[in-house]
Amino acid sequence: MPSDSVMDSLNLILVVGARPNFMKIAPLIKAIGAHNNQAKNAPPRVRFTLVHTGQHYDGQMSDVFFRELGIPQPDINLGVGSGSHAAQTAGVMEGFEPVCQQVKPDWVVVVGDVNSTMACTLVAAKLGIQVAHVEAGLRSFDRTMPEEINRVVTDAIADLLLTPSADADQNLQREGVPASRIRMVGNIMIDALLHHLEAARSRMTHRHFGLEERRFAYVTLHRPSNVDGRENLAAILHELERLSHKLPVLFPVHPRTRQRILDFGLNPRLSTAFQLIEPIGYLDSLCLTERARLVLTDSGGLQEESTYFRTPCLTLRPNTERPITIEVGSNRLTTPQRLAADLDEVFAQPERLGQRPPLWDGQTAQRVLGHLISG
Ligand code: UD1
Repeated sequence: MPSDSVMDSLNLILVVGARPNFMKIAPLIKAIGAHNNQAKNAPPRVRFTLVHTGQHYDGQMSDVFFRELGIPQPDINLGVGSGSHAAQTAGVMEGFEPVCQQVKPDWVVVVGDVNSTMACTLVAAKLGIQVAHVEAGLRSFDRTMPEEINRVVTDAIADLLLTPSADADQNLQREGVPASRIRMVGNIMIDALLHHLEAARSRMTHRHFGLEERRFAYVTLHRPSNVDGRENLAAILHELERLSHKLPVLFPVHPRTRQRILDFGLNPRLSTAFQLIEPIGYLDSLCLTERARLVLTDSGGLQEESTYFRTPCLTLRPNTERPITIEVGSNRLTTPQRLAADLDEVFAQPERLGQRPPLWDGQTAQRVLGHLISG
């Protein structure tokens, strides 16, 4: 009998689609490698097929993350690309179904809240394949956010809900999910952060842009609610330019945002204190998050990474699905109208704020794998 017999092995499909997925899957792949090395002759050996849906495809949105995070080339790339929500979701579903039928995994593992997460969950659930959702239970309670729909649908039909924090467990319990489906495992993104911290620090990215440590703002904005309306985006850019007179602003621009700036004919007045640059990779982003005086963002991941570094963070959104970053971390919500006043408050506060939440300890991927193995 081959040593990799079906009985002795656990067969996974790991799904990634968009930028915020990559730093959540990389730690799990490392944990699988460590497990297989350790348990050389002891079952179960864990095998995986890595599926990239192709939701993000540009070098700076995808390839750079694979390289920096040490993720192996995907076994399968569905090449779905951009499109409306319906077209993108449908494309992923059509591409993913035959993969599941061929691989016949014990589990499909999905992470986060992007369209690919929900699409692959729907496919697997309908084929009777168990789904594990890493980063389950987060809720913004705002169904105008496409990600909130993805979260609610994914959690309603996934079998194993692996949550980052107690608030996520409570959300699921409130929705009637039985405790037997919920496991609190912690924040898997922090595993990636800790693993790559030294490499990130050594890049000194801020210097590359002529910036001094703790004397710049690191800005990222890409949510439709911020960038898809002309008036709103113009007001935000105006506020950023004003901020740049007090504190230099470095703003790597997501392709969606860049397209809107062009579409709306906005011409932000750029200078050495107000730099709009191409999207950056994982290591540069970590480096800037740690070294910035403040982070201004609408990204979920940056709210968490800034909390880890205790860098003050202003989140340009009316709500967050990551309330722990506000309760114990360095994050607070803001609006374009309140931004100037909130910035003044940040400047009046210490340069480092808040605490690290429980289970942000770099061991989450091991806990995830443990639950997949024990079923
Ligand atoms: C997606 C996720 C969002 C996540 C974000 C991170 C959903 C619903 N949204 O939003 O949760 O925070 O990724 O980046 O899944 N584009 C490129 N190159 C790429 C990818 C996209 O140029 O590699 C452009 C295309 O014009 C595309 C637009 O960006 O239409 C938006 O991409 P899309 O994947 O639809 O959504 P994001 O805004 O990136």
